[in-house]
Amino acid sequence: MSLRIFIPRDSGALAVGADEVAAALVDQAHARELPVDLVRPGSRGLYWLEPMLEVDTPEGRVAYGPVTPADVPSLLDAIVAGGPHPLQQGLTEEIPWLKRQTRLTFARCGIVDPRSIDDYRAHGGYRGLERALKMSSDAIIDDVVKSGLRGRGGAGFPTGTKWRTVAQAGRGQKYICCNADEGDSGTFADRMLMEGDPFMIIEGMTIAGIAVGATKGYIYIRSEYPHAVEAMNAAIEAARRTGYLGEHICHSTDSFDIEVRVGAGAYICGEETSMLESLEGKRGTVRAKPPLPAHKGLFGRPTVINNVLTFSAVPYILDGGAQAYADCGMGKSRGTKPIQLGGNIKHGGLFEVAFGITLGELVDEIGGGTLSGRPVRAVQVGGPLGAYFPRALFDTPFDYEAFAARSGMVGHGGVVVFDDTVDMAKQARFAMEFCAHESCGKCTPCRIGSTRGAETVDKIIAGDRPAANIAVLEDLCNTMKFGSLCALGGLAPIPVLSALTHFPEDFGLAPRRLQAAE
Ligand SMILES: Cc1cc2nc3c(=O)[nH]c(=O)nc-3n(C[C@H](O)[C@H](O)[C@H](O)COP(=O)(O)O)c2cc1C
Ligand code: SF4
Repeated sequence: MSLRIFIPRDSGALAVGADEVAAALVDQAHARELPVDLVRPGSRGLYWLEPMLEVDTPEGRVAYGPVTPADVPSLLDAIVAGGPHPLQQGLTEEIPWLKRQTRLTFARCGIVDPRSIDDYRAHGGYRGLERALKMSSDAIIDDVVKSGLRGRGGAGFPTGTKWRTVAQAGRGQKYICCNADEGDSGTFADRMLMEGDPFMIIEGMTIAGIAVGATKGYIYIRSEYPHAVEAMNAAIEAARRTGYLGEHICHSTDSFDIEVRVGAGAYICGEETSMLESLEGKRGTVRAKPPLPAHKGLFGRPTVINNVLTFSAVPYILDGGAQAYADCGMGKSRGTKPIQLGGNIKHGGLFEVAFGITLGELVDEIGGGTLSGRPVRAVQVGGPLGAYFPRALFDTPFDYEAFAARSGMVGHGGVVVFDDTVDMAKQARFAMEFCAHESCGKCTPCRIGSTRGAETVDKIIAGDRPAANIAVLEDLCNTMKFGSLCALGGLAPIPVLSALTHFPEDFGLAPRRLQAAE
């Protein structure tokens, strides 16, 4: 009987040598005439253990990590003899970091072979679509509404409401667009799913198509994700071959097909209207709203735009899970949130959990504090436009409203940790610089304001009339917040003001003086 061994093909694992470990395993197995069935799934998301190798046993999969090619001979000795090994982590499912999670969206990631539609189906895949095909458009949307699902791309807009608007937008061509631009710093959940469970995204988009009456979908993937592009294209081909995409999907009267489109490295192309421009072959600049994309989106037609994680939550919900999904979470934040722990953190990776977990639990208990071993000083949540939170706010629960109440945002769920060597004035300057670099240039508050903002932060740092310049910076931030056409310029003030508010000493200011300026 052959040994079934799993080594991830996820980019995060490849970056630390997963392919080299796989090659060493094949060589060693060949030399020992040991039959090995090597599977290349996505990652389980325990990135500090990558490359993490797993072996199938009658008790379940046993994990070893982080493995180097040099470890492979001793590892095979231990596996064949059933003996211990220093890299052994025990049964994968029993690793506390994984056990503590509620994996609904990431239930299959790291487990299934992302190149096999049969494996996807064997693990519950396509049950949601098969049920949806027997339901009316209204009933599908009712399920999505009932689940409480909100957009996972950043803004947290109710998904069912968006779908209902498109469904009611009359007849004719409609589109489904999946936003896989994933430009936020410290985020990688979309990529992990595209590489580790691509059929789930296809299934979610197909259900959306049936629900709103769209026959065509696009998935817009950032160019920095070549492995995800390859995985999605391979999965789309396999779905077409097996009748899950194309004319009359699963012998029904519904048709739906998907194409991959690759971005060209602009953060603003993650903003939905810029993404539409880019999909239409134009330069990615923001469109004024209204009209909303739900009324007039891609090529002027009604369009559903959702994030990868949003579409990925749908198959579970449609497979009879709407109530179970709604039962997770807190307040108006229902279901689970795939949180990405990164930056200076000991245990970084993907942690899917019901809304409500606190920032402190995530950083200290789950993340294990900083990798450098120094004290945690600040955490930026929600990407480059998210607030910097000090330890004093670590009791904030992961919940859209709770973060907003503290002038922050949950966003796409990126949590980036900094130790006490961070210079928060430099971070504030970086936010303005980032905005200036990524601005599409369409409106003045963002195009000009971000550059003036960086200059003003420089003056404050240099001790040039700090009180007066703080007043200028705050005024500028207000102009950007209320006068920008889109959230890039509108949110850039958040990291700047949070750094000033919580870490005034880094700007050469006494805390009291800042309060006077506020
Ligand atoms: C500057 C900017 C960048 C954005 N980048 C992304 C992105 O990379 N991925 C994403 O899904 N949404 C991004 N968004 C949010 C989208 O505009 C849109 O709200 C989202 O794709 C809708 O999907 P959802 O409702 O499922 O979240 C961005 C928004 C802004 C303002
Ligand atoms: S806020 Fe910035 S990115 Fe958004 S439309 Fe204005 S210039 Fe473009």
